Amino acid sequence: MASLSAADMAYVTDLVYRESAIVLEAGKEYLVETRLARIVRDEGLASIGDLVTRLRGSSATALHGAVVEAMTTNETSFFRDAHPFDALRTDVLPALIERRASQRALSIWSAACSSGQEAYSIAMLLREHFPALAGWRLRIYGTDLSQAIVERAREGRYRGHEVNRGLPSAMLVKYFEQQGSDWVVRAPLRELCEFSRGNLLGTLPVPRALDVVFLRNVLIYFDLETRRTVLRRVRDLLAPDGWLALGGVETTLGIDESWHRVALGRSSFYRPSAEPAAVAAGARVSPWPAQRDRA
Ligand SMILES: C[S@@+](CC[C@H](N)C(=O)[O-])C[C@H]1O[C@@H](n2cnc3c(N)ncnc32)[C@H](O)[C@@H]1O
Repeated sequence: MASLSAADMAYVTDLVYRESAIVLEAGKEYLVETRLARIVRDEGLASIGDLVTRLRGSSATALHGAVVEAMTTNETSFFRDAHPFDALRTDVLPALIERRASQRALSIWSAACSSGQEAYSIAMLLREHFPALAGWRLRIYGTDLSQAIVERAREGRYRGHEVNRGLPSAMLVKYFEQQGSDWVVRAPLRELCEFSRGNLLGTLPVPRALDVVFLRNVLIYFDLETRRTVLRRVRDLLAPDGWLALGGVETTLGIDESWHRVALGRSSFYRPSAEPAAVAAGARVSPWPAQRDRA
């Protein structure tokens, strides 16, 4: 297949940034070629150059969406990185259960949920360790930019190698049903989770006053300004006494100073500061992007 010209690379980089805020750095031509090869083949095109020519000929088609989705990295696993889930169990949920005793409701958001393992891990943790929550209204929202990955999450069907990563075998047999060589999430877990498409820079189908947000391993794909915008949007959706988990290499520090970090065992969570610096200074920046709403 002919390789990607500089102009075509610039077109793809711009498209992906506009639609997802993902930054494709210079030198990623090989990644773009590899990720788009299947689309070139499926469309019956001869080269990636032909694909870009077709994209340039129209705007906002399903093909544009497919190209953006192909450039997302959907790497995930059950109980990924373990420590945030430990802290959720030992500190975050016990504190929230005490504070929400009169409402008897908890809402948790797995933002950029990929194929759903993070949301289902949280659901297992609730069911496994918090019998006191029986009778509470519990909702775990999972959203992701990619429609295809959201459908996978909703289906809750996993291959052997996926359930073999991070999922204790006792939980596998308790919460999943084997269907051929796949494992499918059972109803008691599935009914806690609700998956929808949602761009972190666009319309987000989640309620306000969320208790916990897992926003892990997605800020790394964004530039500084987008990270700041996303963190402010999340802060607006989180309850003032809510909790935010980021990925192991992600932080709010130096990006949005309206959070404070709380060390919990071997992980950290972030909480909205009572008086965000920008608000105190009377100069709060709108968390909503000025550019057109991304779908
Ligand atoms: C590496 S996965 C992280 C999955 C999970 N949070 C975890 O830590 O295991 C990153 C996910 O972010 C999603 N993503 C990228 N840009 C996004 C955006 N602008 N809005 C919503 N999701 C986005 C991708 O589709 C991908 O599924």
